[in-house]
Amino acid sequence: MGMNKDVRDIIIKYGKDILASEAFRDTFSQTHHYSSTVGDHTLGVTVEAVKICLRHCITDDETLCNVVSASLCHDLGIMGRDEKFRNNVQCLMRHPADSVEAYKKLRGEDNVRVLDSIRNHMFPLRLRLPKYKEGWILMIADKLASAREKTDHPSITEAERDELLAAVNGISC
Ligand SMILES: [Fe+2]
Ligand SMILES: [Fe+2]
Repeated sequence: MGMNKDVRDIIIKYGKDILASEAFRDTFSQTHHYSSTVGDHTLGVTVEAVKICLRHCITDDETLCNVVSASLCHDLGIMGRDEKFRNNVQCLMRHPADSVEAYKKLRGEDNVRVLDSIRNHMFPLRLRLPKYKEGWILMIADKLASAREKTDHPSITEAERDELLAAVNGISC
């Protein structure tokens, strides 16, 4: 159970630059939810988010691009958590703002739909709801992927992850 070729192609098409960035590569060195890394969690969320889009026939370029971008960046602000945040609660509440900054730095753009989606993905812990459909998709995908990680049925297998990263980094396998 993992991602099919359509899902993989969409993630690569709209997320190649983020996936190949140093900031994203670093996410595989920090653990998250005890068993996986921030990077594995992030890829799982992106897979679930794209699946939700396809299931609801959301296939326009703009929305897919926003969903993939927001998903890949939504937890980048967690990086360096031990140095940045005093405790878990602070990390949960504050990382979206740092993820927004990480997204802006990577893409050099201020897409309001992506910004709002990242900023408000922690509902109900933070009490602001996302304004746009991209944000709702991210919020649901985040919860789905996290639940799957915790029950040892991750949304993307290690082999699929390695193959995806090899593809964007130009390594054939
Ligand atoms: Fe998060
Ligand atoms: Fe997350």
